[in-house]
Amino acid sequence: MSDLKFDGRVAIVTGAGAGLGKTYALDLAKRGAKVVVNDLGGARDGSGSSSSAADTVVDEIKAAGGEATANYDSVATIEGGENIVKTAIDAYGKVDILINNAGILRDKSILKMSEEEWEIVLAVHLKGTYSCSRAVFANMKANNYGRIINTTSGAGLYGNFGQTNYSAAKMGIVGLMNSVHTEGAKYNIKVNTIAPVAASRLTEDVMPPEMFEKLKPEFVTPLVVNLAHEDLQESCMIFNCGLGWYSRAAIVCAPGVVLGDGERLVSAEEVQAEWKTISGLEEAKPLGSVNDTFGFIMTGLQGLQKQ
Ligand code: NAI
Repeated sequence: MSDLKFDGRVAIVTGAGAGLGKTYALDLAKRGAKVVVNDLGGARDGSGSSSSAADTVVDEIKAAGGEATANYDSVATIEGGENIVKTAIDAYGKVDILINNAGILRDKSILKMSEEEWEIVLAVHLKGTYSCSRAVFANMKANNYGRIINTTSGAGLYGNFGQTNYSAAKMGIVGLMNSVHTEGAKYNIKVNTIAPVAASRLTEDVMPPEMFEKLKPEFVTPLVVNLAHEDLQESCMIFNCGLGWYSRAAIVCAPGVVLGDGERLVSAEEVQAEWKTISGLEEAKPLGSVNDTFGFIMTGLQGLQKQ
């Protein structure tokens, strides 16, 4: 095993004043990266702000001999994203790594959720990931180098009660990754997304205490360090992680069935007759882009023409 070093690299970690983001910032700095520690310093529900969260982490990095700069902007606006990136470029001249991590919760069941609760969660998670990725993209493109790590959640990938706002935002981040990957591929910009499980103020009241004790955020950090490193070749992937479990998750597409001949319209009854194949996942696999879906259609039609 070789050491994963980050000498000469510049990283932005959003929401790095606490929880998971703090562990990423500390570890990357320890490995030689110059780090912009962004944190709005608000409450778990996104209200309020304070500079102390980011400052404390910057002080800790400096005390350990590392280099870091604080930023207190909210990720939730385009202007905030631009200021965060400006902080990095003013201090260190470039950005190599962006970790989109900042997050809040406003849990309510769908009938009880207010418009404000929906919008603020979408703004911090989805728009926040967009605004920082957008702001960093020009610099990464110019340098022909970038590593972006986004944060989704099992709640988005698989669903959770009381989190329609959060689940939608977190799954939106996966869609955003898919297209940032497509746009960034030719500039050596790799973008991946993690679905962590870890003890933090976001999870302290949703987990049994004995589980909470064990789920140290530091279990997630090694995966993020790998995704941030120059050795990384993979892009557009989703990874589950927590308590030493590291696993890839994916949106897959099955070949299914092609009905009709490409000219004749298909009846509902024909679809019903093939329901087992249509709703099954046999031979399903992840696709490289939306264009690959046409491959299934064309292959299916060619098969029909041969019959
Ligand atoms: P945390 O609450 O400890 O850390 C989030 C940080 O983001 C806080 O320091 C907060 O001040 C900051 N923040 C919030 N809104 C901000 C904004 N608008 N601009 C800048 N900073 C802002 O929570 P945790 O658990 O470390 O969460 C980190 C990320 O991981 C979040 O995106 C969360 O949704 C995600 N996640 C966490 C899970 C877990 O088990 N802890 C599970 C799945 C996803």
